[in-house]
Amino acid sequence: MNPSARQHDLSNRRHEPVSWRRGTGLVPILAAVLALGGLWGCGERTRDMDVQMFRAHTVSQEVLIQGREAYMLYCVGCHGEKGDGQGPAARFLQIKPRDFTKGIYKFVSTAAGDLARDEDLLRTINRGLHGSAMPAWNLVDQKTQMALVAYIKSFSDFYAEGEQGDALPITPDPWKFDPAAGAARGRVVFHGLATCYKCHPAYVTQDEIREAARAMSAPVPESFPEDLYTEKVKRSETFDLDIRPPDFTRRELRNGTELADLVRVIQSGVGGTAMPTWYGVLDPSDLWALSHYVRGLTELRNTPAGDSLRLSLGIR
Ligand code: HEC
Ligand code: HEC
Repeated sequence: MNPSARQHDLSNRRHEPVSWRRGTGLVPILAAVLALGGLWGCGERTRDMDVQMFRAHTVSQEVLIQGREAYMLYCVGCHGEKGDGQGPAARFLQIKPRDFTKGIYKFVSTAAGDLARDEDLLRTINRGLHGSAMPAWNLVDQKTQMALVAYIKSFSDFYAEGEQGDALPITPDPWKFDPAAGAARGRVVFHGLATCYKCHPAYVTQDEIREAARAMSAPVPESFPEDLYTEKVKRSETFDLDIRPPDFTRRELRNGTELADLVRVIQSGVGGTAMPTWYGVLDPSDLWALSHYVRGLTELRNTPAGDSLRLSLGIR
């Protein structure tokens, strides 16, 4: 069934038990409900709520009601009543609020293509997303935060059908006792092997990039694009938005700058954007090395050292 047909079915389906599991003979009931569809005439609001309860198939009604109450209080202004990111404040924001109906999240611990885990959404709700309008909701109690997670998931069909993904494992930091060596290795991996500068700016000279490539036994670039030292804005088809790969010396990172945050975001990638998953592509120790290096770059933010690095390379 195509998604819009499915949505149509769902919106005709009412008053079913909330705790639906998969594989419980949905089709005959849907058919019966479809046949009866149109006989009922309740308000739009109630019907949406029923649909959402159906989608959030393992959550109790109380939790969803609690989630909806908190959502209408705290989140609706940006994320919109339908969860589509079209709240009244959205048009004033440069970085647009997430459209929850897509069910795709940026800051996750899972592999690309897997559904975000509850703890990923909780972490974001609790800490906010730096450098965007998304506030930290850490003063909202834990139970309400969890109800919010259940409620926002209920906007998406994906969560009605699929299980959340497994968190990608994070190894212990092999550079813990020698972070400087980690950062030095990260610099070489960043420029020589992973070529992170295809989207983010490069932070070393062209000669140093070639040297790094040789050190990694990777192909040595003969020439470089003009935008080597700029942020190369990428179109996200998923979100239908232009998204900027940040200059680490200048932008606040959404997801935080602790090493563990960086490892998670580098290995999982950023869902729905050009930022790829590096898990399985790079060695775990190199994922950590990159995190040490990127963290060092983030520490240059708002410092004279950061200004002079950018000036010396012509980073725009
Ligand atoms: C002032 C506007 C604003 C309010 C209010 C707001 N958000 Fe957001 N939210 C945003 C923006 C902007 C983003 C997208 C940031 C980005 O794309 O990096 C976002 C993103 C998110 C995400 C997606 C995280 C990801 O990994 O993709 C979640 C989840 C979220 N918000 C939950 C909430 C919840 C729950 C509330 C209410 C308790 C809330 N937001 C209130 C602006 C807001
Ligand atoms: C194909 C393009 C592309 C490549 C290659 C790329 N990135 Fe990204 N990266 C992005 C985009 C786009 C974002 C911004 C996502 C956003 O803000 O929504 C991003 C964001 C990030 C973030 C910030 C996450 C946050 O919390 O705000 C980090 C850290 C990062 N990338 C590290 C790396 C590293 C390290 C490499 C190389 C191993 C790399 N990226 C390669 C496109 C790319």
